[in-house]
Amino acid sequence: MRWMRAAGRGLLALAVVLTGYVASGAPGDGDRGGGRGPMTLATAGDLTGYLGPVLEGWNRARPAERVTLVELPDSADETRAQMITDLRSGAGRFDVLNIDVAWTSEFAAARWIAPLERGAFPLRSFLPPVVDTATYDGKLYAVPYVTNAGMLFYRKDVLDREGERPPRTWAELERQARTIAPQYGLGGYAGQFLPYEGLTVNAAEAVYSAGGTILGDEGERVTVDSEAARSGLGFLARGVRDGWIPREALSYKEEESRQAFQEGGLLFLRNWPYAYAGASGADSKVAGKFAAVPLPGPDGPGTSVLGGSNLAVSAHARHPESARDLIAYLTSDAVQRRVLTEGALPPVRAALYGDPALVRAFPYLPALRASVLAAAPRPKSRHYEQVSLAVQAVAHDAMAGHQTPEAAVRRLAGELAEITRRR
Ligand code: GLC
Repeated sequence: MRWMRAAGRGLLALAVVLTGYVASGAPGDGDRGGGRGPMTLATAGDLTGYLGPVLEGWNRARPAERVTLVELPDSADETRAQMITDLRSGAGRFDVLNIDVAWTSEFAAARWIAPLERGAFPLRSFLPPVVDTATYDGKLYAVPYVTNAGMLFYRKDVLDREGERPPRTWAELERQARTIAPQYGLGGYAGQFLPYEGLTVNAAEAVYSAGGTILGDEGERVTVDSEAARSGLGFLARGVRDGWIPREALSYKEEESRQAFQEGGLLFLRNWPYAYAGASGADSKVAGKFAAVPLPGPDGPGTSVLGGSNLAVSAHARHPESARDLIAYLTSDAVQRRVLTEGALPPVRAALYGDPALVRAFPYLPALRASVLAAAPRPKSRHYEQVSLAVQAVAHDAMAGHQTPEAAVRRLAGELAEITRRR
């Protein structure tokens, strides 16, 4: 299933010359059991299979500070649960954690991850919004590693044949999904609608695109009870009710939705840019037949949620100095290029988005940069997990037709008020 291993090699061939990272400091110089030594890096599923080879570079240069990759499940929620079980138990199996941008506040507030010195990392070279996802309570708790913004993938061959342009508004998307998709035996629109973090993202995008918010003041104030939120959930619920969102999509995470699109089953797909590489691959039925545009909103372009992950040092890390150096390595210019060229993931280094060779190889880079800069973060909250679970449950009930969007938003506002009151 690690489909990118083969594709990655192809991309590598057409991509830039990769300069090797030169490790600073002699490997294994003293400091045993203290700041330096071997470590683990825990991450959610490496869907494009690029991270192993990247870590080999580090391991060759620093055998005494060898890093072992611990790959957790593909689903953000399961990865989070496994990380937290380890961190809570104090077992300290994980030294460096590749955490979702949405979790920094929660992990920091619980003191599972250690604060970092701002001056030690090239924060000014990163795209500005990503740095904010790594801070909590004014302090830096992680270093941005990968960013992400949702895009609308569409079947260009089909829309071209119909003389239509890709949708810029929900009404256009709805009309094309309802009337054109069935003529081609396609489902209309899908995103990540299984109740998990992906549904929180998709629901938040619908609410944000309609001009709404979920929480304010670093998670202290509930702001979701609005016409915008009702309209956002209404858009998704209507899709399922009227059949232009196929029911199967209620069980999709990123990978299932990508598969459905690249098997030629969908006219429109909301997904992260990594799906571009898979849908262009040799086993894709839609290679060369699709394109991607910004997500639509009610009256024009919508708002993506800011995705991605940050690297943090566990509060129980066995060798914190090595851990911080590994983070510096993974966020170096050379590795950030490989994140894009081999991992098909959006890097955090701003300069790469304007690099002519990269833009030739990844034509969606300028649009992606704009989407990342305009993306809105998920609510910051010490209780992020509970916040996300409430959003998922309510969005799912509205989409499955168990509750009207109005009732769902009212219920969500009540649950969030209760959650934010908790100490
Ligand atoms: C992607 C995003 C991450 C998000 C997850 C949801 O991995 O980068 O931020 O939480 O998808 O499924």
